[in-house]
Amino acid sequence: MNPRPALFLIILPVLILFSCTEDDVPPLVDVDMPYVLTHPAHFPKMPIPEDNELTVKRVALGKKLFFDKILSLDNSQSCASCHDIDHAFADPRKGSVGVNGHVGTRNAMPLINLGWEKSFFWDGRSATLEEQALLPIQDPTEMASNLEDVINKLLAHDEYPELFDKAYGEPPSEATLAKAIASFERILISGGSRYDRYVEGDTNALTASEKRGMSLVLDSHTAECNHCHVGFNFTDHTFHNTGLDRGTIDPGRLAVTGDLNDEAAFKVPTLRNIALTAPYMHDGRFETLEEVVDHYANGGQGHHNQTPLVRRFILTPTDKEDLVNFLKALTDEAFVENPAFREE
Ligand code: HEC
Ligand code: HEC
Repeated sequence: MNPRPALFLIILPVLILFSCTEDDVPPLVDVDMPYVLTHPAHFPKMPIPEDNELTVKRVALGKKLFFDKILSLDNSQSCASCHDIDHAFADPRKGSVGVNGHVGTRNAMPLINLGWEKSFFWDGRSATLEEQALLPIQDPTEMASNLEDVINKLLAHDEYPELFDKAYGEPPSEATLAKAIASFERILISGGSRYDRYVEGDTNALTASEKRGMSLVLDSHTAECNHCHVGFNFTDHTFHNTGLDRGTIDPGRLAVTGDLNDEAAFKVPTLRNIALTAPYMHDGRFETLEEVVDHYANGGQGHHNQTPLVRRFILTPTDKEDLVNFLKALTDEAFVENPAFREE
């Protein structure tokens, strides 16, 4: 039997259907429809750069790029290869593996509430998300590509030129590529943990143990966690040497500022979704939260630049359990399950 007439009968009504809806109903999404960010009331307003207002089309384009292997040298790796949504966009591997099999010395950071961050990477070498976005693409140990090749691939692609035009009114370029990726990163907001429900007034959202752990983290001048992991995103945006090693293995912030006070100092990371983002610290040296807490309670290794805020303190087994239980209450299941953040 010749299948063509049957196929035609199926396609024809579909075509009619499409032409009708296009004539009668205005398009649902306007080209410049703003993307409305939603976040809990106890978060401040997110600063958005004037030249990259958030729109639905920009966010959608950024998402497509984030999951697209076209950004890497041999089309083998996307941003999501190292930033895995199941781990709150962190990498469960100690060091991330680049396109040529190179294993990095730093652990890939989670991507959470980035729109409020003041600098990016463990050493804070990027000041904006737009600036940050182009670096992994060109990093020889990560995606190992170069911007000229990537832009040429995007220009030759059958969808991207139109998508960039709709989002920015311009063809793919370094600037629009960076802006689109940054737009997707800004919507990665996490504020739905049980701790947040507690802050919003639901006093039953945390268990008794978690509440005790919370006061150890947030109020205690023994543990001092709150000196650095402070505010709605559990970071004061500074850099510290927490005494992980006696000597300097990775110069950290020193490489950016040249200031010896920054030797082996690293960015204070958020504690949100921390139960999902193992292994821990800039080099992924600790597998468990208990090991991290032990590091602090033991007072560090005594590096000459170690912060005085990390010093030995007494932590009973119950304290430790409570503290870790509180850290686990910072998990936001709705964040990691959000289909808007997952590859379609
Ligand atoms: C090969 C693995 C790998 C790939 C691919 C990768 N990253 Fe990363 N990412 C890392 C590592 C490792 C770090 C920490 C590096 C450092 O501090 O020097 C990081 C850090 C970041 C940070 C900083 C977060 C913060 O809180 O400061 C952002 C943002 C980020 N990556 C976004 C991206 C984007 C966007 C892409 C795709 C264009 C991407 N990454 C591709 C491994 C990767
Ligand atoms: C002096 C500031 C400071 C204090 C005090 C502090 N931290 Fe940290 N915290 C940091 C910095 C900086 C890092 C990253 C260190 C690194 O990787 O070299 C970090 C890393 C962490 C990590 C790993 C995060 C990740 O994504 O890998 C956890 C968990 C953590 N701290 C919990 C705590 C707890 C719990 C306390 C209190 C017992 C505490 N911190 C006290 C600054 C501090």
